[in-house]
Amino acid sequence: MVMGSLSQQTDVVVIGGGPGGYVAALRAADLGKEVIVVEQRSRRGGVCLLEGCIPSKTLIHSVEIAEGARHGKNFGVLCGEVSIDIEALRANKEKVVTVLSRGIDQLLKARGVEVIEARARFEGPRKLQLSGADVAGIEFRHAIVATGSSIARLPMMEGLEVWTSREALEVKEIPGSLLVIGGGYIGLELGFVYAGLGSRVSVVEMLPSLLTGADKDLVRPVAKSAKSAFEEILLEAKVGGIEKGDDGGFKVEIETNGKTLERNFDQVLVAVGRKPNTSDLGLERTGVKIDERGLIIVDDQCRTAEPSIYAIGDVTAGPMLAHKASRQGKVAAEALAGHNAAFDNRAIPAVVFTRPEVAWAGLTETQARAEGRPVKVGRFPLAALGRARTLGGPDGAFKVISDPDSGLLLGVGMVGPHASELVAEGALAIEMGATLEDLAATIHPHPTLSEGLCEAAEVAMGAAIHITSR
Ligand code: NAI
Repeated sequence: MVMGSLSQQTDVVVIGGGPGGYVAALRAADLGKEVIVVEQRSRRGGVCLLEGCIPSKTLIHSVEIAEGARHGKNFGVLCGEVSIDIEALRANKEKVVTVLSRGIDQLLKARGVEVIEARARFEGPRKLQLSGADVAGIEFRHAIVATGSSIARLPMMEGLEVWTSREALEVKEIPGSLLVIGGGYIGLELGFVYAGLGSRVSVVEMLPSLLTGADKDLVRPVAKSAKSAFEEILLEAKVGGIEKGDDGGFKVEIETNGKTLERNFDQVLVAVGRKPNTSDLGLERTGVKIDERGLIIVDDQCRTAEPSIYAIGDVTAGPMLAHKASRQGKVAAEALAGHNAAFDNRAIPAVVFTRPEVAWAGLTETQARAEGRPVKVGRFPLAALGRARTLGGPDGAFKVISDPDSGLLLGVGMVGPHASELVAEGALAIEMGATLEDLAATIHPHPTLSEGLCEAAEVAMGAAIHITSR
């Protein structure tokens, strides 16, 4: 490790070059600040770009092509036997990641942002100590902590070469059988990827349903599709132990329904959540306050209890999502530049890239019920949409959640093709304070899936056109 001797000074130092950190750096530079990004990896983009969202979506697209070809005959297209070229699949994914990561470096360079590859720790409220670089430390007026999160591990996996999302996204091999521990975002997205690549996938989830937190009616089509794509889904089940089998695979004990099952798998993927990267940052040498989950406490300008230090993204409360981190990054940069910015968004869209995709924004029905808050809900099935029929009549639905008195749109949810894209309209409508009437009176292009949101609003208003309750 190189220990530098020089110390640098800057207006703003951003720790972490992920979608929170690099966006904050670009915004701060645009606002006239001298900015340094300290990132310990050799590439910018963070977990999202290097070993998360982008590689997984690239793989999901490959699998979609394969699935399209497999089902081509339903649409009058014969493709023959579909096979996977794992080298080409990996090369394509790597190319996408490389192009985007270089793009971030170009953006930073063009804005005059200096990038230092090093590990940073706070020495005090205005000083960072660096290891691994020629520069020994940085004195700053403002720091933005954007160090993200790491994969949560299970004690039983230590010493075993089981996969986390990182190894799964490397696609070194396609295991014959794969056990996924955790039926959340990663477990399901990567479960569908490996099932599409030819693995026999089983899922063990300790809670009673997949994608806990999402509305049950939205999860149902995903659970149905997972049931047919996967070998087995065990809910309210726990892995009691994992050991290496004689054949190079893994022997796994699964506790479910008061019974202990013994199963063999070629590979095991552990996807049981993520935890914030706030330890070993020297935060104890500053006034920054951390809660019992290790999250940095911030106000709505992303300022910590230490006035010179801001924090954004996965190290702060809320969903661990790249787009939430980026928004907070802009807010922090603007706030430290003296602008009147606040992270006061009403809707942070959530998207799970399963088959079908599921997405929601704003209030969910589950949340409304838990809070005892009365809401008016409108649901519209994909089956009643012309465009959905042209795509093969996929299972799915749109829903709106509104205030029963004012008609104010509080939340949207959807499950079906392109839900990941369509949810943005709902997020905009919620942010703009739209009512059901606004959604219903907006002309949506025909034939498109976007009509579903308009139709769901009409259902909630009792003015449904394409479905009837009579
Ligand atoms: P998650 O929180 O989405 O799901 C973890 C699941 O594992 C939960 O359902 C939990 O009940 C279950 N679980 C925990 N311990 C278990 C055990 N011992 N045995 C069986 N089940 C157990 O976390 P995940 O999937 O690891 O993803 C981490 C985070 O990364 C997500 O919460 C999300 O913030 C982000 N992410 C976002 C994506 C997107 O936006 N499309 C895609 C992938 C990840």
